[in-house]
Amino acid sequence: MNENRENWSGRIGFVLAAAASAIGLGNLWRFPYLAAQYGGGTFIVIYLVLLVTVGFTMMMAEVTIGRATAQSQLTAYNKIKKGWGFVGLIGTIVPFLIIPYYTVIGGWVLKYFIAFAQMSFGGGELMGAGAAQSSDFFGSFISAPFAPFGYGVFFLLLCAAVIVMGVRKGIEKSNLVMMPLLFLLTIGIAVYVCTLPGALAGIKYYLVPNMDALAGADGTFSVARFGQTLMGAVGQMFFSLSIAMGIMITYGSYVPKTASIEKSVRHIEFFDTLIAFLAGLMIIPMVYVFAVKTGTPVNEAMKAGPGLMFITLPKVFASIGPAGNYLGMCFFALVIFAALTSCISIYEACVSAVCDFLKISRKSSTFFVFFMIAFMSVFPAMGYGAWGDIKVILGMQFLDLMDFSTSCLLMPINALLTCILIGWVVGEKYIADEVTHLGEPFKGRKLFAVMVKYVVPVFLALLLISETCRNLGLFGWKI
Ligand code: PHE
Repeated sequence: MNENRENWSGRIGFVLAAAASAIGLGNLWRFPYLAAQYGGGTFIVIYLVLLVTVGFTMMMAEVTIGRATAQSQLTAYNKIKKGWGFVGLIGTIVPFLIIPYYTVIGGWVLKYFIAFAQMSFGGGELMGAGAAQSSDFFGSFISAPFAPFGYGVFFLLLCAAVIVMGVRKGIEKSNLVMMPLLFLLTIGIAVYVCTLPGALAGIKYYLVPNMDALAGADGTFSVARFGQTLMGAVGQMFFSLSIAMGIMITYGSYVPKTASIEKSVRHIEFFDTLIAFLAGLMIIPMVYVFAVKTGTPVNEAMKAGPGLMFITLPKVFASIGPAGNYLGMCFFALVIFAALTSCISIYEACVSAVCDFLKISRKSSTFFVFFMIAFMSVFPAMGYGAWGDIKVILGMQFLDLMDFSTSCLLMPINALLTCILIGWVVGEKYIADEVTHLGEPFKGRKLFAVMVKYVVPVFLALLLISETCRNLGLFGWKI
C-alpha cells in the first residue's frame, strides 16, 4: 500500500462517506417516480432483489479494486492487468462529464433554498405573485444570462473548500455534520407529509404492489413490461450506488487495510436504499394529495427529475399555505446536503485521478479540476438560455447529451469491462484475496463469483442496449 496515501479514520468514516455519495438526487427525484410508475411495492421488491445481488457485486468489485491497488480509477486498472488502463480512462471521463451538469443543478437547488428561506422569514411571494404556482420562476431562472452559471460556481466552490482539506479533515468531517442533518430532515418531512389529510391514499399508491404494472395491453403478464421494469430498476440502482463513476474505486483506495469491505458494502447499500424509500414516503403522498385537490391525474403530476423538484413540488408547497414555505425551505436544505455530498465525491474522483496520474499535490489538483469544471459547466448552464437552440447532436442539448453519453453508454461499458476483467481475466480470486487478507470471512463469495462472471455482464449488456434504444427512440422503447 502506498504509505503516503490518505485514508479514512476507520470503517464508519468510509461507510458514511460512501453513503453520502450514493444518497443524491437519484434517490430523491428518480426512485419515487420509478416506484410509482412501475407498480409500487412490485418495483420495490424487484429493486431489493437486484440490490443484494447485482448491486452488491459491482460495489464489492469497485471498492476492493480501490483498496487493493491504492489508486483511483485512472491508474488502478493498469495496475491490476497491463493493457487494461483504458477502462480506467473511461471511468475517469465519466465523472468529468457528470460533474459540470451536477454542479449546475446544485446551483438551482441553492437558488430554491434561498427563495424559500426568504419567503419563510421575509414573507411575500418572492417567487413572484403566483409564480410558485406555475413554472415561470423556474423558466426565467434557468434561462437567465448569468445566474445559473454563478450559482453553479458557488456550489462548486463549497465542494472545493471541503476537498482541499483532504480525506479526513475535509470529506469525513463535513459528512459528520451534513449526513445526520440529512437523515433528520428526511424523517421529519416524511412524518409530516404522512400525517397530511388524504396522505394515506398516496402511501397506498406508493407501497401496495400493483401487478397491473407488469401487464401488457391485453391485461396478462407481459415479458416486455417486466423487462422494462427490470431495466428501469437496474439503471436506477447503478446510478444510485455511484457505480462506474470512479467514485467507489477512489473512496475504496482510502479504506484502511483492517476494515471489512463486505460489511461496509452492505451498510452503504442499506442507507442508500433507506433514504430512497423515505424519499418516496415524503414525495408521493404530497404530490398525490395535491393531484387530488387540483383534479390533476396522479400519473401526470408524478414526474421525475427537474420537473418534479423545481416545478411540481413548489406548486405543492404553495398549495399547503404559509407552512408550505417552511416545508419547502427544509426540503431544499435536505436536497442541498444530498447534492453537496454527492458532488464532493465525484469531484474527489476527478481530483484523486489527477493527483495519481500527474503526481501533483491535492491542492494543485483541486484548483486545476475546479477551473476545468467551471469552464465545462458554462455549457449546461447556458443550455436553457442563450444557447438553448444549439442542439449539439441527435437533437440533444448539452445537459441531455452529457447525461446520455454517461449513464447510457460510458457507465454500462465501464462496468461491463470491469466484470470481464474481474470475472474472466484475473478471476474473482483477486477480489476474494483482498477481502479476506486478514482472515476476514467473505460470506457472499460464491454469489459474487457467479454474478461477476455471468449474471451482471448480461444485465449490463441489456442495459446498454435498452438505454440506447430508449434515448434514441428506437423500436418504440419507452421507460
Ligand atoms: N448516487 C448519486 C445520486 O443518486 C449519483 C451521483 C453521485 C451523481 C455523484 C453525481 C455525483 O445522485
